[in-house]
Amino acid sequence: MERHLPEKLQTQQPVKSAPEPLHGLSDFLVVSNRLPVDRVSTDDGGDGWRRSPGGLVTALAPVMASRDGAWVGWHGAPDENLAPFHHENMDLIPVPLSNDEVELYYEGFSNSTLWPLYHDVIAPPEFHRTWWDAYRKVNRRFAEAAAGAAAQNATVWVQDYQLQLVPRYLRQLRPDLRIGFFNHIPFPPPEIFAQLPWRQAIINGLLGADLIGFQRPGDTANFLRSARRFLGASVKAQQVHVGDADGAISHIARAEPFPISIDVGQIQELAARPDIIARSQQIREDLGNPKTILLGVDRLDYTKGITHRLKAYGELLHDGVIKVEDAALIQVASPSRERVESYRLLREEVEGMVGRLNGQFDTILNTAVRYLHHSYPVEEMVALYLASDVMLVTSLRDGMNLVAKEYVAARADNTGALVLSEFTGAADQLKQALLVNPHDIDGLKAIITRAINLPPREASRRMRSMRKQILAHDVQRWSSDFLSTLANEAVRDDR
Ligand code: G6P
Repeated sequence: MERHLPEKLQTQQPVKSAPEPLHGLSDFLVVSNRLPVDRVSTDDGGDGWRRSPGGLVTALAPVMASRDGAWVGWHGAPDENLAPFHHENMDLIPVPLSNDEVELYYEGFSNSTLWPLYHDVIAPPEFHRTWWDAYRKVNRRFAEAAAGAAAQNATVWVQDYQLQLVPRYLRQLRPDLRIGFFNHIPFPPPEIFAQLPWRQAIINGLLGADLIGFQRPGDTANFLRSARRFLGASVKAQQVHVGDADGAISHIARAEPFPISIDVGQIQELAARPDIIARSQQIREDLGNPKTILLGVDRLDYTKGITHRLKAYGELLHDGVIKVEDAALIQVASPSRERVESYRLLREEVEGMVGRLNGQFDTILNTAVRYLHHSYPVEEMVALYLASDVMLVTSLRDGMNLVAKEYVAARADNTGALVLSEFTGAADQLKQALLVNPHDIDGLKAIITRAINLPPREASRRMRSMRKQILAHDVQRWSSDFLSTLANEAVRDDR
């Protein structure tokens, strides 16, 4: 659900697109749990689609257009069959999910087994055989949809933890294909992965790919250690020799880190737009022009460390280090996976904490925490980045964290401070952020205080260096690095 914006910040109008037949088989396919479009109602009251915000689709849209591309994914509504359709130069191939499958495959195995297991078991993962059965069945369906749409020798790029069995199914159905896989979230160490009753099948599923990409070198190493430990695979120089049923080597799977990034150009363009700059000034004014605005932007997820952040902030208010007259904390928490129990509990906890903090520290004029349980379009996000002096990213575990990168990309004048958890993938690249262990509440308080009082020259030096990194590594570079490595693997393999 998106919040309404002032007229002038309205994002692109939805484009109505009637289902159209596909052009034919595709040379390049992306397979992800969700299609990169959201359903919207058009001016005449009908249904249309709008491209979802996000770097992945921005990076891949040009590749799609130049290579007869198609995207395979779920369209977001349970119990609905949709014919393939065309939208903004992309063929979209919807994969249906029944209501039960949403519960068992998506909310269950993907988000109550794999998600917590892969994020350091911050929440306890649940293991249910019925969820696993649904995961296998749905992964098979995605693989069949991709196999049916791919041209001879096409490249297929499978995305994320919801679809780890797809590479293997796909190779069985279509051995001619080049298959890539990218895991957007962390891959856990074998000591944790060991808990999964279906650990061998998952590793085998991934090894169906020619190239398996991870966010960090540590994730790559974890995966390769698991392949060795649970399958007895022979691993040399990040390559696994995958055997067929007769023991002969059928192909080589390579694992490598490819840290994802953002559409830097888009964020920079928005950050320079006069209406968005005006909106950022308006936000500051609406908050009563405090000395410092602090910002947190997260999906409402227990991996994000929102409660740790609020605890530290509350103690700083209590200690008198921060005064509500001087500082405002904006916490955007976008609704996520709301039918999953651990997310419902987290929402109650966060909202309880915000209520208590505001009850204790608010004045008639000032509010301690502006808590916004909404999603916002990217235009409003950039206005918030511009309005904020301190960005707080305190994840307990995070594959990458693109919000940190967006904040840096938006700060063209080199001002602003980024507090960044060392447990994010982004911490590998943003070494000049104020790095923190969010479990250490005293450390978190100290770093927030330091960020608020950061001398302008130091802030500028840090931001300049982070911007240099981000500007040189956008999401377009990420996708072309991955795809060219996949193509080269193909050449090596064929020899
Ligand atoms: C993370 C995952 C994505 C997922 C997104 C939103 O970023 O890596 O695969 O799409 O969260 O979660 P949702 O469950 O709404 O798709």
